[in-house]
Amino acid sequence: MTTNQIGLEKKDMSAVIEKLNNLLSSYHVFYINVRGYHWNVKGEHFFSLHQKFEELYTSLQLQIDEIAERVLTLGGTPLHAYSDFAQHSSIKEHKNVFNGKECVKGLVSGLQELIEEQRQVSAVAEEAEDQGTADLVDEYVQQQEKLVWMYNAFLG
Ligand SMILES: [Fe+2]
Repeated sequence: MTTNQIGLEKKDMSAVIEKLNNLLSSYHVFYINVRGYHWNVKGEHFFSLHQKFEELYTSLQLQIDEIAERVLTLGGTPLHAYSDFAQHSSIKEHKNVFNGKECVKGLVSGLQELIEEQRQVSAVAEEAEDQGTADLVDEYVQQQEKLVWMYNAFLG
C-alpha cells in the first residue's frame, strides 16, 4: 500500500507529520508559558488576567490533543517527551514573568508565532492534498488572530 488509512500518499505524509510534531512542540512550550502567566501574574488586573490565561491554556490543551491525534490519523507517532518539545518548539520558554502587561506581551508573541507556524503547516498539508490537516490548523489560526487583536487592544 502506498497510501495510509485515509487514502493519502505515505510518501507525502512524512513532511506533514514532521510539521505537526514541530507544531505540537510549540504548543507544549506555549502551554506551559501560559500556565506560568496564570500562576505568577500580579497587580491590578490579577483577577481578569488570571481567569483569561486559564481559558487560553485550557483551549491549548484541547488543541494539543487534536494535533497529536491528527499525527496518529496520518500514520505517524506524536512526540511525547519534554526534551523533544524543547528541541522542536519555535516558541521559547518565558520564565518568571509577573507583570500583567509583560505576560500579555509574551502571550501575543506566542500566538503570533503559532499563527505563522500554522500557515506553513497548512501550506505543506495542502501541497500533500491533506485538506483535513489544513482545515484543522486554519481554524486555530482564525481563533488566534482574533485573540491577538483582543490582547493587543488590552495593551492599548
Ligand atoms: Fe489555577
